[in-house]
Amino acid sequence: MSWEFTVPPKIAFGEDSIEVLETFQGKSAFIITDGMVNSLGYPDRVAKILSDNRWNIAIWDCAEPDPKVSNVRDAAEAMRAFEADTIIAIGGGSVMDTAKAAWVLYERPDIDLAALNPFEELGLRKKARLICIPTTAGTGSEVTKAVVIRDDETGRKMATINTDMVPDLAILEPSFTKDLPKSLTAYTGMDALTHAVEAFVSTWKNDFSDACTLKAVQMVFEWLPKAVENPDDLEARGKMLVAANLAGMSFSNSQVALGHSLGHSMGAVLRLQHGLAVGMALPYTIEFNTNDSDEAVKNYAELARVIGVTLKNPKRAAKKFAEMVRELMDQVGSPTSFKAAKVKKKDFKANLDKLVDFSMQDAAITMNPRNFESSALRKIYEYMYDGTPIDF
Ligand SMILES: NC(=O)c1ccc[n+]([C@@H]2O[C@H](COP(=O)([O-])OP(=O)(O)OC[C@H]3O[C@@H](n4cnc5c(N)ncnc54)[C@H](O)[C@@H]3O)[C@@H](O)[C@H]2O)c1
Ligand SMILES: [Fe+2]
Repeated sequence: MSWEFTVPPKIAFGEDSIEVLETFQGKSAFIITDGMVNSLGYPDRVAKILSDNRWNIAIWDCAEPDPKVSNVRDAAEAMRAFEADTIIAIGGGSVMDTAKAAWVLYERPDIDLAALNPFEELGLRKKARLICIPTTAGTGSEVTKAVVIRDDETGRKMATINTDMVPDLAILEPSFTKDLPKSLTAYTGMDALTHAVEAFVSTWKNDFSDACTLKAVQMVFEWLPKAVENPDDLEARGKMLVAANLAGMSFSNSQVALGHSLGHSMGAVLRLQHGLAVGMALPYTIEFNTNDSDEAVKNYAELARVIGVTLKNPKRAAKKFAEMVRELMDQVGSPTSFKAAKVKKKDFKANLDKLVDFSMQDAAITMNPRNFESSALRKIYEYMYDGTPIDF
């Protein structure tokens, strides 16, 4: 079977890497960001470099967290009015996904975002190219072919991939993440870890994505506690940007699994932050897969070795890996149960059917190494409420 490993043509990283923009050709840059990131001045830093090089610039700061289709349409309209030849996303995954999806609508107004799929040739880049500058170290969206958009009516998160949406340039500028609060640093870091781990057990895994995962997992365990402990540690910030980026390249080319099916629903239904949600799900899905998939056991055991576990028995090593993920989460303050995330029991119960229903519709379940019925998902969610490790 043939395979393609797709990444952006260029990734600039390190202090002052935004200066790479001086060499980028274009005339009119449409900067997409959100109100918070705009207030921190990062878009202005980028605009200054471009205006010194005679670009026209517009800054659109209306991206919403977990963007809805309507929000994306607004962005595309503003892009069209400005006649952008370059789109620059400066923000977290929400901003970058808004930019990717708006870019699709800008170039292809005929496309229905809800029907976006991996198989259609989009033919982008006739009007504009896309540059992504992440301000969180988590989603890796700056290098992925993925986009996650919410349906306006149901609120369901729709995740899909298309190779054409891989950005043209990713810039990893550590100083753009230094104002991220400790909680969001932890949650987004857990998103990166979840991408890396799920890509390594996905049924689409391959040697290229495995290589990215192994380094990313080792880096998250080493550097996330440091970035949370000392937000001004630019070395730790830079390492987490690289870890998230490697994890992004990994999952973009081998997909995520059950943890993201659960996490997407938790984000849509209970409005939990994406990294908090998928991170919370991660140890439970490791335990669940370990209980009935030899392939998953082998892969988790290999990940355990990367972070120093010396147990010879693969199943014990895989279980130890789940424990170490929980320990990391406790260390950085990422909740390991709904209860710890302060979700009220009555809200949880009232929404359990919807959580299960949305998870069963999520594309990521297809690549999970263990097959299951919806009743198993319900049980996993119930265990997750109190923080009980999975024993089935
Ligand atoms: N396309 C992909 O490959 C991909 C992968 C994973 C997740 N996602 C999606 O990305 C979204 C989550 O993105 P995220 O976790 O980066 O969070 P986010 O973009 O939603 O941002 C979270 C909050 O952090 C703030 N923020 C961002 N950068 C900051 C900074 N440097 N300092 C202070 N505050 C800052 C934002 O204003 C926002 O309020 C979800 O919708 C998720 O589904 C996409
Ligand atoms: Fe994610």
